[in-house]
Amino acid sequence: MSTVLVTGGAGFIGSNFVHHLVAAADHSVLVLDKLTYAGNRASLYDLPDSRVEFVRGDIADPSVVAEVMSRADAVVHFAAESHNDNSLLDARPFVDTNMIGTYTLLEAARRHDVRFHHISTDEVYGDLELDDPERFTETTPYNPSSPYSSTKAASDLLVRAWVRSFGLRATISNCSNNYGPYQHVEKFIPRQITNILDGCRPRLYGEGLNVRDWIHAQDHSSAVLAILEGGTLGETYLVGADGEKSNKDVVEAILEIMGEPADAYDHVVDRPGHDLRYAIDSTKIRTELGWTPQFSDFRSGLEDTVQWYRDHEPWWRPQKAAAEAKYQLTGQ
Ligand code: NAD
Ligand code: DAU
Repeated sequence: MSTVLVTGGAGFIGSNFVHHLVAAADHSVLVLDKLTYAGNRASLYDLPDSRVEFVRGDIADPSVVAEVMSRADAVVHFAAESHNDNSLLDARPFVDTNMIGTYTLLEAARRHDVRFHHISTDEVYGDLELDDPERFTETTPYNPSSPYSSTKAASDLLVRAWVRSFGLRATISNCSNNYGPYQHVEKFIPRQITNILDGCRPRLYGEGLNVRDWIHAQDHSSAVLAILEGGTLGETYLVGADGEKSNKDVVEAILEIMGEPADAYDHVVDRPGHDLRYAIDSTKIRTELGWTPQFSDFRSGLEDTVQWYRDHEPWWRPQKAAAEAKYQLTGQ
């Protein structure tokens, strides 16, 4: 049995991966998480102490990173500042965590010869036109738009350089938009669900024609484990579930599921530099590693997600007012 260090394991996708790892494999898990506004210990409920250890610390702090890395056989690096809108208000934490934090982890992994898997995003490729027949592939040129996506692109390039220059045993995955339980209420789907639960109208940026390629977080987790166990060192894998939907269609589906009129939402000021469309071609991971998404019915995944937020108000309620206060600064 080996020890897997999971950075950002108290976040939305990191915590899903920790649960998946404990259920699906034999490893011990060491979580390193700073518990920023986005981290929540409650997302790591009901895990055996004999398998999972939690360390609170910053991935940009070389001493804590050296300590946990010395005990790890592999690291799966989720920790990041993850929200585009926040990066437009203050990019500094994005540079510190996504770039300096990743650099700090890479140096420690190199020193201790630890297998490294880097979690990244399809946003590093920029965006596509609505009618573009092409989708992103592993060879699409990098062209990030926002402070968030540019710091993620920078972190990917650092990983690639550590592979080439120092022989680091690393892989990278770039995934599309995740949804499911335990997602912070600042993000699109949980924001609209919790607005409706609070008796407020959903808020759609601009015309709402922007397209995102939705994948359930559980499918992201199974893809990451497949790469960790069978991926080719030095390679990048795109992860997606053919889930393209316009924001308008998603808001209307949420309203319908929650028993509200489908047009009961407001258009608000658009995000500056708003990427139009993301779309993933995940042929490589499917053919090379035999991975397939299990949550292919978006409507039913969305219904379950709505029910989860109905049932878990104590989890999301403490975050809601602060998230909405930030949106008030931009009129969104
Ligand atoms: P999240 O914001 O929900 O969680 C981030 C976690 O990282 C939190 O627990 C936070 O406390 C922790 N963290 C932040 N800064 C840290 C630091 N300096 N040191 C230690 N811990 C720190 O994010 P998420 O949505 O779960 O995203 C996780 C990863 O997946 C990110 O790397 C993100 O870029 C990537 N990703 C996200 C999506 C998506 O749709 N959410 C899609 C593709 C890729
Ligand atoms: O594509 C992967 C990326 O997906 C990840 O790398 C990011 O970490 C993750 O946050 C997500 O980025 P997006 O910017 O696409 O997600 P967000 O949930 O912020 O917004 C989704 C879409 O919905 C986007 O087009 C903006 C729009 N939106 C968002 C909010 C919060 C609205 O129309 N209204 C809203 O209130």
